[in-house]
Amino acid sequence: MSGPQVRGVPTVLVVDFGAQYAQLIARRVREASVYSEIVPHSITAAELAERAPAAIIFSGGPKSVHVEGAPAIDPGVYDLGIPILGICYGAQLIAQQLGGTVGRGDGGEYGRTTMHRTEGVESELLPSGLPEAQTVWMSHFDAVTETPEGFVATAATPGAPMAVIECHDRRIYGVQYHPEVAHTPHGQDVIVQFLHSLAGIDSSWTMENFIEQAVEQIRAQVGDGRAICGLSGGVDSAVAAALVHKAIGDQLTCVFVDTGLMRKNEGEQVVETFERHQGIELIHVKAADRFFERLAGTTEPEAKRKAIGELFIRVFEDAREQVTDAKFLVQGTLYPDVIESGTAHASTIKSHHNVGGLPDDLDFDLVEPLRSLFKDEVRSVGHELGLPDEIVWRQPFPGPGLGVRIIGEVTPDKVEVLQEADAIVREELKIAGLEREIWQSFAVLPDIRTVGVMGDERTYGYPVIIRAVTSEDAMTADWARIPYEVLDRMANRIINEVPGVNRVAYDITSKPPGTIEWE
Ligand code: XMP
Repeated sequence: MSGPQVRGVPTVLVVDFGAQYAQLIARRVREASVYSEIVPHSITAAELAERAPAAIIFSGGPKSVHVEGAPAIDPGVYDLGIPILGICYGAQLIAQQLGGTVGRGDGGEYGRTTMHRTEGVESELLPSGLPEAQTVWMSHFDAVTETPEGFVATAATPGAPMAVIECHDRRIYGVQYHPEVAHTPHGQDVIVQFLHSLAGIDSSWTMENFIEQAVEQIRAQVGDGRAICGLSGGVDSAVAAALVHKAIGDQLTCVFVDTGLMRKNEGEQVVETFERHQGIELIHVKAADRFFERLAGTTEPEAKRKAIGELFIRVFEDAREQVTDAKFLVQGTLYPDVIESGTAHASTIKSHHNVGGLPDDLDFDLVEPLRSLFKDEVRSVGHELGLPDEIVWRQPFPGPGLGVRIIGEVTPDKVEVLQEADAIVREELKIAGLEREIWQSFAVLPDIRTVGVMGDERTYGYPVIIRAVTSEDAMTADWARIPYEVLDRMANRIINEVPGVNRVAYDITSKPPGTIEWE
């Protein structure tokens, strides 16, 4: 795991005990305008002391504290005088390491439950304005049954008699429930109480401050050198480019490779935004013909990906020849990429999803101004920098673009059909106000034709499949429950407005077992 991403701001370190919760906790801390980073539980007390965090949060984890090899933390951490909040497994670990008892579960508690304050015991962690009884989200098997010395239990649920434990003298706290999830309505209040009232951290992590600091850092790194940035049309590269442009102005040149496989009007929008509005020097490579030529006769998904990925790099390198003195390459790497790089699981996902990116061995110094940010923060920065909503709120889009949404061979005609249908899907979702609730929504063009009837005529045309999913991170996804009326409007418009299409289907497969894309 790499070192601090941002220095000189009060930082909360979230210790990861091996589940998916740590990132969400870190995001919630940021939402409270406090900077946070994730560290592995193998970090030592001395290393923690060196980082001098303003507070420490222990995440949940999938194991029981009783099993052999369950992750623990260097107990020296409790003597550092730094406020600690343990969540779920983190709370149990605190109890166990400080001499309390964690009872073995007899069934546990999963999902929503009601928590009551313990009468006659004063709580510092639960804000006094909160109701006596509140809904909390539980996911545990074991539970604390005896507090360590110096602790009090301040709330209980049916399955966790000591759902909240607190040691006021040492500012060490534990909650058995998950305050970071949306299912715990007052969860964020408790996180805020810990950060602001108990650990005394002020709200200094704002995107205005971030931009100011990032601009200084970029200037210090690049000096009077030249930088180049590949724009994909996606939010990350767009925000990285706009930020670097703010810092170094015309020392930055952007390259936009138009593969012909983007969505309707997307290429023009990139040019419009960056060249005309932001005044960024832009090399616009119109390479659609080269991509179609290369893809002719290629039908197998991975072969298409490979072809598109390789040609993309070649075209980018040609364009780069026009900026021979560029020493720096700007990339829109985000904090989740930084956290995940290096873990075996993440690297296999990356090799598949890197298609459409640039190889590691390009001879540049990297400028990665978004390395400390989560996606929602990147969107705020983009908004602050004046990028349009269409780019700031753009859905994830695969590097190979429509190339993997046209099943089988990719041709200019098919791209046009798909672009039109896809534009209708997105437009109708926007009109229905559902756009931001949905992770990705698009149309797919399969490699078959079906029989239909229009007027008195028999038709033989393409079906279009609508795909829309909700997701947190694309690792799992659920098909979106779009209202029938919205689906109906999409289907009617596609059939009436897109020549060659005579049928529309809606994909109701979740991931797993399906993937989000069809190829
Ligand atoms: P799947 O289809 O595997 O997609 O469920 C998960 C997420 O990754 C995106 N995706 C890609 N992104 N190059 C990319 O840059 C690719 O080759 C690629 N294939 C899938 C997909 O859109 C979804 O967000």
